[in-house]
Amino acid sequence: MTPANARGPAAVITAVGSALPPHVISNDDLAGRLDTTDEWIRSRTGITRRHIAGTDESTADLAVRAGFQALTNGEPHDVDALVVATTTPDRCCPATAPAVATRLGLTGVPAHDLAAGCTGFLYALATAAGLIAARTARTVLVVGADRLASLPHPGDRTTVPLFGDGAGAILLRTGNTREAGALGPVVLGSDGTAADLIRASRPGALHMDGSDVFRQAVNRMSTASRQAATATGWDLEDIDRLVPHQANHRITSFVARQLGVPQARQLSNVSDVGNTGAASIPLLLAQAAADGRLKPGHRILLTAFGAGLTWGAVTLTWPELTLNRQEPGHDR
Ligand code: UT7
Repeated sequence: MTPANARGPAAVITAVGSALPPHVISNDDLAGRLDTTDEWIRSRTGITRRHIAGTDESTADLAVRAGFQALTNGEPHDVDALVVATTTPDRCCPATAPAVATRLGLTGVPAHDLAAGCTGFLYALATAAGLIAARTARTVLVVGADRLASLPHPGDRTTVPLFGDGAGAILLRTGNTREAGALGPVVLGSDGTAADLIRASRPGALHMDGSDVFRQAVNRMSTASRQAATATGWDLEDIDRLVPHQANHRITSFVARQLGVPQARQLSNVSDVGNTGAASIPLLLAQAAADGRLKPGHRILLTAFGAGLTWGAVTLTWPELTLNRQEPGHDR
């Protein structure tokens, strides 16, 4: 458990952005080429379609689009650092973030990638809060961007239906802990003894032990969520919106049930985008803020789980944000 911003200035959310590739693949499209059905995929995962990047859309391209939208929606202050959470960087070396920074007009700022599977965005929030607390930066752009659909073998019906591509971004600025938008203590954890449960030595070679991952995901997200609520001084019934990593509708429903959070207070977009990895939480926040499911004053709890294994959770009260620019092709 890591109270990343327990001392020093708090990190406060001031803007969100998101990006999805335009190409959409439905369950029926998959059923045309894999031994599966729309009914099986929907009943086991809640997923009906996913956005898939073309060969001309890199992780950096998605990150730039989401980051640009957050910067456009944000207050006009200088960004002094960039963190890109991704499990699918365009190259092993160099990292994605410096190129993304340059394309966003941020050449010269500290910029690095962070790999923590589908928990990457929460690890990146903690890192950004740490940069702010250490006074290394006053404003940090945090991007979660993944092309997870590139990881499964194209013929593997057990993993292909689960994943989609996308990016989400959040702008954090220095503030104080009592402000709306201030991150609470960020709870993080990992367990390398179970590293083989989700692994890929290269794109097209993903292996996942589905049922073990399912159990671990429910338990780890439930426990981390309780820890984050306790560290904030909230009771679980104080939570207006639960924002879990969108792995699978059954997983997130189990987490909500274990926490006693009514389904109506759970935000979800897995039906339309599948599991988008590090992009999952910021993409959902951006969509829900734009369509009114998330409102200023809502007390929200973010939680994630992913390869590593890794997990995490954090609370915040949703702030008043400017949402003046929609991502082109955004269908929600
Ligand atoms: O960030 C975390 C990322 N990981 C995840 O979100 C995955 C977590 N795991 C899961 O969501 C579930 O385990 C799955 C959705 C992947 C699978 O659901 P399940 O209920 O655990 O199914 P299963 O793996 O136990 O497989 C049941 C049956 C098997 O057939 P047999 O052996 O019973 O004849 C599979 O071969 O379903 C079969 N199956 C499929 N059938 C039709 C597996 N995938 C498919 C498919 N279409 N796409």
